[in-house]
Amino acid sequence: MTVQEPLSLPMTATGPFDPPDQIMAMRAGQPIARVRFENGDLGWVIARHETIRHVLTDPRFSARQELRRDAGETLPPAPPGVFIGMDPPDHTRYRHLLIGQFTVRRMKLLTSRIEEIAHEHLDRMEATGSPADLIPAYAAPIPAMTICELLGVPYDFRDEFARQATTMARADTTMEEKRQAVSGIISHLADLVRQKRSEPTDDLLGGLASEGNDLTEEELANMAFLVLGGGLGTTVDMLGLGTFALLRHPEQIPRLTDPETVDHAVEELLRYLTTVRGTIRTALEDVEVDGAQIRAGESVLVSLAVGNRDAARYADPDTLDVSRSAAGHLSFGHGIHQCLGQQLARVEMRVGFAELFRRFPDLRLAVPADDVRVRDDIFHGVDQLPVAWGAAS
Ligand code: HEM
Repeated sequence: MTVQEPLSLPMTATGPFDPPDQIMAMRAGQPIARVRFENGDLGWVIARHETIRHVLTDPRFSARQELRRDAGETLPPAPPGVFIGMDPPDHTRYRHLLIGQFTVRRMKLLTSRIEEIAHEHLDRMEATGSPADLIPAYAAPIPAMTICELLGVPYDFRDEFARQATTMARADTTMEEKRQAVSGIISHLADLVRQKRSEPTDDLLGGLASEGNDLTEEELANMAFLVLGGGLGTTVDMLGLGTFALLRHPEQIPRLTDPETVDHAVEELLRYLTTVRGTIRTALEDVEVDGAQIRAGESVLVSLAVGNRDAARYADPDTLDVSRSAAGHLSFGHGIHQCLGQQLARVEMRVGFAELFRRFPDLRLAVPADDVRVRDDIFHGVDQLPVAWGAAS
C-alpha cells in the first residue's frame, strides 16, 4: 500500500445524497486509509464492502466506547443496559433479553398502528393545507409515535414524550435543550418502569419489566432509552431524506406505492442513502486488514455509506434504482450489533412512503432543491423539507 496523507475530518460531499468525497475516492483502489480524527488522533477508515463485513464480525474489534481515542474526550463506559457500547458477554445478555420482546405478534399489531398513525398525520397535513414542512408534520411523528406504542408510553403523555424525543434527536436544537430533553425522558422512563413493575402491561417495556430476569430499574430505563435513541432519529432521517431523494427521482415513486415492489424499493433507498454513514470500532490487539497494520488501541471508522457504494458488490452503485436488489446492504450495520429494530424500521418506511405518495401523488418540493439543507455528519438527513401539493397557490 502506498503511504499517503491521512484523510481528515470533517469531510465534504458533492451531492446531497452522496457519502463524503474523500472516502468515495478510496474506491479507486485504496480499501483502507489513515484518517486524522477531529481531536488529532490518527486512526483508520475502511471503505470496501467485504472488508467492512470482516471487521464488524471480528472479535478483535471492540464497540466499547471507553476505549475510543477518536472521541475528543475519554468517554465513560456505556451505562448499564446501553449495550450498543458493549462487547460480549454483557452485550449478548442484554441484546438477547431485548430481542425476545420483538415478537411476531407485537410487530403485526404495530404494523396496523403505524398505518393509523400515518393516516392521522396525513389527515392533519391535508386539513392544514399546502405547503408544509414534512419533517415535523410527518417524518418525525411516525417514528416517535411508533416507539411510544412499542414501549407502552401512556396516551396522556405521548405528545409530551414525542416532543422531548424529537428535541433530543433534532440537530437544530441547542445542547442545553437536548440535555433537558434527555434528562426529562430518562426520568419519565424510570417512572414508567416502576409503574410497569407493579402493574405489568402488554408492551415491550411491560414485558421486560415483568419477566423473571434480574434487570434493575436503571437497566430497564436505559434499555428503553437505547431503543428510543436507536429508533427515532435514524428513521426520521430515512423518511425525510428518502422523500427528498424520491422527489428528485419521481419516476421511481410508483414502485413505492405498489405493494408488490415496495419492499425492494425500500431496501434500495436504505442502500443508496445509508443515513447512518458509519460506525467506530477499536482494535483490541494488532490486526492486519487488507495489508494494513492496525495497532491495538487504534480507532477504525467503518464507512457503511461507501461500503454500500462498492462497485464490486452493486453494479452502477451511485445510481438510485429502486428496481434493483440491494440485498446485503450495510445500512443496518453487520455482525453482533446489527440493528435490532430493522424489521420495525422497514415497516415504518414501507407504510410511510407508500401512504404519503398515495395521498399526495403530486407531492413536490416547495423550494428549489438547492435550498434544502442536508445535514452532513455521521447521521445524514434533512431537518426541514418544505413540500407542496395540489394546485399551485
Ligand atoms: C432506518 C432506520 C434505522 C437505521 C438506519 C438503523 C441503523 C442502525 C445501525 C447502523 C446499527 C449498528 C450500529 C453499530 O454497529 O455501531 C444499529 C443498531 C441498533 N439499532 Fe438501529 N437503525 C434504525 C432503526 C432502528 C429502530 C426502529 C430501532 C428500535 C426500535 C433500532 C434499535 C437499534 C438498537 C437497539 C441497536 C443496537 C444493537 C446492538 O448493539 O446490538 N434501530 N441501528
